[in-house]
Amino acid sequence: MQPSEVRHRILRDHEGLRARLTRVESLARALSQDEQRQVGDLREASETLLSILREHMRWEDRYLVPALRESDAWGEERAERFEQEHREQRELLAWVVAELQEQQKPPVILAAHIRDLIETLRADMDEEEEFFLDPDVLRDDVVSIDMTTG
Ligand SMILES: [Fe+2]
Ligand SMILES: [Fe+2]
Repeated sequence: MQPSEVRHRILRDHEGLRARLTRVESLARALSQDEQRQVGDLREASETLLSILREHMRWEDRYLVPALRESDAWGEERAERFEQEHREQRELLAWVVAELQEQQKPPVILAAHIRDLIETLRADMDEEEEFFLDPDVLRDDVVSIDMTTG
């Protein structure tokens, strides 16, 4: 797989994720006003979001990390920094997953935390695009990643 294909695939994923974040955010907003009716929907939508996000991150680890590593003289540093970002994001996701499982958690608190999470995820995606998905970094003339194990 060419670095430009890795880049396009991730940018497309990000578009889908941003649309999903907007939907989950409106559920979280609605809940602040009508908590009983909406909390089940919010939990479900958040769980789906988190599992899609984890899948997305696994794909990035598998294809973007090697592309970054091979990109140029700073590739190794860039790849390490990317992996560090993912470690931090995974800690945050684990915390939210645990919170979603706490049935006693007041819905309004849960909704507030989901909204914070959404803001963080948007900022993380913007940052990822700026620092790790630069077309000048992911150039096809540098390397091609073998995609044999799908
Ligand atoms: Fe990521
Ligand atoms: Fe991403």
